[in-house]
Amino acid sequence: MKIGILGVGYIGKTLSQKLGAAGHDVKVANSRGPETIDTEVLATGAHAASAAEAVKDVDVVILSIPLSRLPEVAALITTVPADTVVIDTSNYYPARDSTIEAIEAGQVESLWSAEQLRRPIVKAWNAIGSGSLAGKGTPVRTAGRIAIPVAADNDRERAVGMALVEDTGFDGFDAGRLAESWRQQPGAPAYCTDLTSEEMPAALAAAESARLPKRRDLAVAAFTERVGDGKTNPDSEFGVRVSRALFM
Ligand SMILES: NC(=O)c1ccc[n+]([C@@H]2O[C@H](COP(=O)([O-])OP(=O)(O)OC[C@H]3O[C@@H](n4cnc5c(N)ncnc54)[C@H](OP(=O)(O)O)[C@@H]3O)[C@@H](O)[C@H]2O)c1
Repeated sequence: MKIGILGVGYIGKTLSQKLGAAGHDVKVANSRGPETIDTEVLATGAHAASAAEAVKDVDVVILSIPLSRLPEVAALITTVPADTVVIDTSNYYPARDSTIEAIEAGQVESLWSAEQLRRPIVKAWNAIGSGSLAGKGTPVRTAGRIAIPVAADNDRERAVGMALVEDTGFDGFDAGRLAESWRQQPGAPAYCTDLTSEEMPAALAAAESARLPKRRDLAVAAFTERVGDGKTNPDSEFGVRVSRALFM
């Protein structure tokens, strides 16, 4: 498939490398211009582009930027044809994104994202830590393969998201509609806990919406205490250990 990725940070970089390695035709962009993109992002064949070039003439657009910056790309995304699948990896972290009143009031994060972008989206790769995404992918049917929940309102678009998740080394788990995707938000049992497809249904069912924000913020405090600056991601072992202890 032809794929355009906006954002080449912890998640976008790994998606670029893995989807390129899986044989997809990948273009990547950040906010500062193609000349600022590290060569390691392009190691498996992705091409650096401007944001406008990255989303042009592609089958899939992946947004892997901070949630609060989605409004910046909304105008650009309106130029993307309706049958192009738009996948969003974002999560709401008030310490990074500042307070977003609608989400604080209970709006599901992916519905807020879709509203900003003024189009349907697929929510995928939001519920796996960057260390696990980069290091724990395995071939299909490997015992203990980690699953990643994928939510969308359109069945075709959700299927595309699930197939691409498979190409990154994880089971694509059908998590249903966007309205239910709060079950894969930060603080939920299925969030960054590296579960299998067999474990995922019970984890999604066990989510309690009122407890998610407090648990999310406890995890941020634990990570900040460990790695210092609130920006550096924890390694996979520590991240999953804390997430399981707090969220499950
Ligand atoms: N880190 C994780 O473990 C993790 C796990 C799952 C999901 N997520 C979510 O995935 C998203 C990305 O996370 P991350 O950790 O990869 O972020 P990150 O490391 O901070 O990288 C953010 C990327 O977004 C780019 N960007 C920002 N605004 C942009 C714009 N207007 N147009 C184009 N590119 C833009 C940045 O480019 P510049 O540097 O040029 O500004 C940068 O490449 C976030 O919503 C996050 O919550 C993260």
